Amino acid sequence: MSSILGPDQAEGLRKIFNKSTTRIIAVTSGKGGVGKSNFALNLGICIANISEPKKKVVIIDADLGLANIHILLATIPKYNLYHVIKGQKTMSEIIYKTDYGIDLISSASGVTLMANMKEEERNNLIEGLKHITYADFIIIDTSAGISNNVLSFVTAAQETIVITTPEPTAVADAYGIIKAIVTESENANIKLVLNRVKNPSEANAISKKIIEICQQFLNVKIENYGFIYDDPIIPSAVRAQIPFVKLAPNSKASLHIDHIARRILNMEVNQNESAWDRLIKVFLKNS
Ligand SMILES: Nc1ncnc2c1ncn2[C@@H]1O[C@H](COP(=O)(O)OP(=O)(O)O)[C@@H](O)[C@H]1O
Ligand SMILES: [Mg+2]
Repeated sequence: MSSILGPDQAEGLRKIFNKSTTRIIAVTSGKGGVGKSNFALNLGICIANISEPKKKVVIIDADLGLANIHILLATIPKYNLYHVIKGQKTMSEIIYKTDYGIDLISSASGVTLMANMKEEERNNLIEGLKHITYADFIIIDTSAGISNNVLSFVTAAQETIVITTPEPTAVADAYGIIKAIVTESENANIKLVLNRVKNPSEANAISKKIIEICQQFLNVKIENYGFIYDDPIIPSAVRAQIPFVKLAPNSKASLHIDHIARRILNMEVNQNESAWDRLIKVFLKNS
C-alpha cells in the first residue's frame, strides 16, 4: 500500500511536536461505533484526576463532520474547529473548560467542509495544536477508518491507541487501520485496547492474536494496554450525558479505564483496589 500523506507532510507533522513536553495520544479504530469517543473522554478524565499534581488534559474531538464528545458532556461549546478552519477563531480561543477537570476542543457535526478538508486546511489545524502548550496530555478522538484526516492526526501524535471490540469484523478493520498507520509512519507507536469484552480470557486471546499477526505480517510491535468489559453502565451514562467514570466510578468499565490511565502515567496498578477505595484515599488525603 502506498503512503497517502506526502513524505514532507508526514515529516512536518512529526516535527511540530518534537520539542514539546505535551504528550499527544490519538485514539482511533478501523470500524466505527467500537467505543472510541467514550474511551477518549473517560480516559482523559481519569488521567486528569488520578495524579498529584493534577495533569492538564485537552480532548480534541477530531471526528470531523460527525463530532459528538460535547453530547457525551451535555454541552454546546459556542465555537469549534470549524471556526478555526474558517479563520474566525484561533485554536486557543475555542478551548472549552468542562466541569470534569478537562478541556475540550469540539468539532462541528454534519459539516462536509470538516470531513473533506483540503491538505492545507488540515495542516493548519494540526499546526494549531502546538499552541496548546499548557496541556500535559492532548487526547485526539479521531473518526473511524482510513482517511487523510485520521492519518494526519495519528502522525502528529506520539502514540496511537487502536480500539476494537472482539467482533471479527472490528478485529479485521483494526488490522486494516494498523497496516495503514504503519505504512504512513515507520516508527509508529501503537497500543491496543479491546473494548466490550465478556471476560479477561476473551480479551487476552484476541489481543494476543492481533499482536502476533501484526508482528508477523507488518513487522510491528504493538503493546497491549488492556481491555474494558461490555458494561451496561456505558449506554446508561451516554443517555444521562455524564461520563461513566463520574456516573459510576466503581463500575467494571471505570475500574479498567483507570488501569489503562495508570499504565499511561506509569503508575502502579493495584488489581485488588477498587476505584472507590482509591477515591476514599484521595478524599482522606485532601480532608
Ligand atoms: N464497554 C462498553 N460496554 C457497553 N457499551 C459500550 C461500551 N463502549 C461503548 N459502548 C456503546 O457503544 C456506543 C458507541 O460508542 P462510541 O464511543 O460513540 O463509539 P465510536 O466513537 O467508536 O463511534 C455508545 O453509545 C456506547 O453506549
Ligand atoms: Mg466517536
